[in-house]
Amino acid sequence: MDQTHIPPVLVTGATGRVGRVVVDQLLDAGIPVRALTHRAEAAATLPAKVEVFTGDLTAPESLDPALNGAGAVFLVWTAPPQTAAAVVERLAAHLRRVVFLSSPHQTPHPFFQQPNPMATLHADIERLIAATGLESTIIRPGMLSSNSLAWWAPAIRSREVVRWPYGAAETAPIDDRDVAAVAARTLHQDGHVGGDYVLTGPESLTQAAQVGIIGDALGHRIPFEEMTPDEFRSLSEGTAPKSVIDMLLNAWSAAVGQPAYITTAVADILGTPPRTFHQWAADHATAFTEGP
Ligand SMILES: NC(=O)c1ccc[n+]([C@@H]2O[C@H](COP(=O)([O-])OP(=O)(O)OC[C@H]3O[C@@H](n4cnc5c(N)ncnc54)[C@H](OP(=O)(O)O)[C@@H]3O)[C@@H](O)[C@H]2O)c1
Repeated sequence: MDQTHIPPVLVTGATGRVGRVVVDQLLDAGIPVRALTHRAEAAATLPAKVEVFTGDLTAPESLDPALNGAGAVFLVWTAPPQTAAAVVERLAAHLRRVVFLSSPHQTPHPFFQQPNPMATLHADIERLIAATGLESTIIRPGMLSSNSLAWWAPAIRSREVVRWPYGAAETAPIDDRDVAAVAARTLHQDGHVGGDYVLTGPESLTQAAQVGIIGDALGHRIPFEEMTPDEFRSLSEGTAPKSVIDMLLNAWSAAVGQPAYITTAVADILGTPPRTFHQWAADHATAFTEGP
């Protein structure tokens, strides 16, 4: 594709799990890409074709060079809420189109309806975007498959039992690559302005079954043992904010005995079914043995 007349897309969170794949997908589609990095050293992980800008969501004016001349932005909010309004205002001043990585906080399934500060922030940012009149698409993935790396890889690498609360809780993990593919598609293909997409994986799986599937990919059985919520709380102290731990425990508790919410959005948008958790685990097997 001739790139001379296509305005670049600015990808925020460009070194993160979803944004990094969005960068590759946009380049593959022939779209010029700008990447926002927050830590200058993170730029080394980006392809040479990407125009890298250093900027910080907590310092809205730092985004101006990256926004100037861009056509659209992929917005991943990983900062505290205080500067969200000023950042959205700046986006609207410079460009017309935003695709926002949010969450399924409006979905009437108990898993998504527990008290959740992140959901409140996502809802606030959506309201800010709507108020500007920016052409927007909202992408709402459920549980990302890659969460299991942070949660279970340390025990699996050391060949220990995976101990976890609410092993019977069901989720429909979605492959990060499918989330990124949908985001990229909505950024470079017409017809997605006003789109609001809840993205899930293809199957409802208990957390214990997900550990079993990782074991299948590694070729050995991974023992799983139920942990009490209180033990999880005390072991998680200092590793994540208390509100995040409470949110996870409440969501898992509400998901026991409930099939996970599943949508066809990935297949509808991409024309191919979402990857299974088996596929994700097979493709990431070495991350559970050798480390990230
Ligand atoms: N985990 C899930 O199951 C799930 C489900 C639905 C939605 N989400 C949402 O997904 C988002 C996280 O996406 P992710 O997992 O792809 O991110 P991630 O892997 O955690 O990466 C974080 C990214 O944010 C950048 N960043 C951090 N602080 C920044 C700042 N102050 N200014 C600018 N950039 C900053 C980092 O850039 P540097 O490398 O340069 O520091 C990095 O690229 C969150 O909004 C989360 O709520 C997650």
